[in-house]
Parts: sequence; structure tokens; C-alpha cells
Amino acid sequence: MNILLTGCAGFIGYHLSKRLLQNNRVYGFDNLNDYYEIKIKKDRLSELQQSNNFSFFNEDLKNTISCFEDIQFDIAINLAAQAGVRLSHDSNYRYLDSNIIGFHNFMDYCVEKNISKVIIASSSSVYGNSCLSPFKESEKNLVPASIYASTKLYNENISKIYSDKYNISLAALRFFTVYGSFGRPDMAYYSFCKDLYSQRKFTVFNEGKMSRDMTHVDDIVLGIQKAIAFVMEFNSSNFEIFNLGNANPISTLDLINKLEVITDKKAIFHFQESLSESSITHADLNKSKNILNYFPKILLDDGLKEFHDWFVSYHDI
Ligand SMILES: NC(=O)c1ccc[n+]([C@@H]2O[C@H](COP(=O)([O-])OP(=O)(O)OC[C@H]3O[C@@H](n4cnc5c(N)ncnc54)[C@H](O)[C@@H]3O)[C@@H](O)[C@H]2O)c1
Repeated sequence: MNILLTGCAGFIGYHLSKRLLQNNRVYGFDNLNDYYEIKIKKDRLSELQQSNNFSFFNEDLKNTISCFEDIQFDIAINLAAQAGVRLSHDSNYRYLDSNIIGFHNFMDYCVEKNISKVIIASSSSVYGNSCLSPFKESEKNLVPASIYASTKLYNENISKIYSDKYNISLAALRFFTVYGSFGRPDMAYYSFCKDLYSQRKFTVFNEGKMSRDMTHVDDIVLGIQKAIAFVMEFNSSNFEIFNLGNANPISTLDLINKLEVITDKKAIFHFQESLSESSITHADLNKSKNILNYFPKILLDDGLKEFHDWFVSYHDI
């Protein structure tokens, strides 16, 4: 298949590309923005560029897409977004550029190019703090606690309209705290690991009591592959939302304990309040299991060890 993948230099985009390149042609699109170290994005890209099945376009979704003139795509996957819930007030425009304007440009491009199979990345953050856990896709009381989460909910709502109006078979995937090798340095598990090795004091939000349903990136890639097979089955408009999580949340303090054991270092931290975080994320996986046959396999202890092995080798520790 010819696959258009935005956000290919990102954490999930890199792992997904690697898997898809085994038997597809991947046209990767990314603006290589500086939300976190560009070096890690370039390192991911240089691995992907070793495959003859990979082409890269360094473009920004906030501009109209024009780089793939002669290519017919079988499916388009949108992972490009401004991720993270905690940007400073001055940087809020990044959510608008990528997650609102960029998202519309992506959907409009699919319509223009007659791409009728589409997958979009959503987030567990859409559940906010008002839902009963474990979170079900059928939950109606969604009150996002951050601008980021609101943009993801907006993406789901808008893509349903595109799906209905333009006969698109579309799956919106709610990812739950994805971790693993080549991960995102802004995420807690990664930055805690860095701070443990440099013995720097770090901030722990909300007394370390928040829990996250941490999901290994290999399980997420598996789930996306299942979602690809699912959207390919429909030749008319079809819209579904799926949770891709691990169904086994861990509190921040327990995560820190696990990392202390793996790194053999003692953490130094202080507490701070944050209002833009959900207190817990916990995926109900019944729908994903029943429809996609998605069963996450990687235990957190194994996944964290795998991440740590990559971390010490990548950072030459
Ligand atoms: N990692 C997680 O835990 C997690 C959880 C929930 C949802 N998600 C969603 O999954 C997707 C992938 O997340 P990730 O962790 O790989 O993030 P990431 O930041 O590593 O990857 C996103 C990529 O998109 C690119 N990008 C951003 N704006 C762009 C634009 N306007 N034009 C072109 N490229 C642009 C960035 O340069 C980056 O390489 C995102 O949509 C994110 O919101 C991730």
C-alpha cells in the first residue's frame, strides 16, 4: 500500500513507519519542530531513510499540502500534532497551528485526493476528570482539562463530520501514555530517567498521586495496524473511536520507584500542583478487543527495562 503518514519523525510515527515499511511504501511528512530536541527526530529519520520504501517531506501541516502531486494513497494516517498538555501561555498558538488549522488541512487534503481510508491520533486526555474509570469510548461526559485535550476532542468531532460528508472510513485512536525506546524527552518517564542520572531535583505534579495507563509503543503500533485493517474493510463512510491503552494504570510515585530500582539511583523531587492534568487515565479495552482484536502484551516492568536499555545506550551513559 501507499501510506501517507504525518508526524513520521515523532516518537509513535517513527515506530509505526518502521513496522509499516516492512511491506508498504511510506510517504512521511513532518515539520521537525523544536517542541523537544530536534536531534532525536533527525536520528529517528535517518534510520527510516535507510529503507528504499520511505520518502520524507519536510513540510508544515499549517500550510496547504502540495508535495505529493502524482501519488495515489491507499490510506492516510495523521499523527502530527502539538502534543503535551503543559505549554506556556505564549506557546498556545502551537496547538492552534498544528491541531486545528493543520488538522483541517490534513482532512481537506484527504478529500481533495480521494483518500477514503483515514486514521487519526486522539488521546486519553479527552476523558478529562469527569468520567468514571475505566474510560469507555461510549462516554458522553467528556470535559477536557487542557487546551491540548480540547483540540483532540475537536479533531474527533470534525473527523466524524468529514467521514459522514465525504464517505470516509475513519478510525480515531485514543492513545494512553505511550512509552518506549526513542521516546519523547518531554514525557515524565523519560525526563525522570534523565534527572535520576544527573541527580537533579525534579517536579512531581499533584503529590505523585496521578495515575497513567502506560502503554508500550509496540502495543500501540500493533493497535494501529489492527485499525488500518479495520478501516480498509469499509468502502463507504464509517466512523469509530477506539481506546489503545494497557488497562493497568500506575501512579507517578510507583513509576518513580520502579525507575529508581532500574537505574539504581535515588530520586530527588518536590511537589507542585497542576490543573491541566487528568488525575487518572485508565482504558476500558472491551471495544478494541472485540472489534480490533487488540490485546496489549508488554508488561510495564519489561517495557521500562527495554526503554532504559535504549536510554543508556542512546545517551552514552
Ligand atoms: N505519546 C503519547 O503518549 C500520546 C498520547 C496520546 C496521544 N498522542 C498523540 O499521538 C500523536 C503522536 O504523538 P508522539 O508522542 O509521537 O508525538 P511527537 O511530538 O513525538 O510526534 C509528533 C510529530 O509531529 C510533528 N508535527 C507537529 N506539528 C506539525 C505540523 N504542523 N506539520 C508537520 N508536522 C508536525 C512533530 O515535529 C513531531 O515529529 C500526536 O497526535 C499526539 O497528540 C500521543
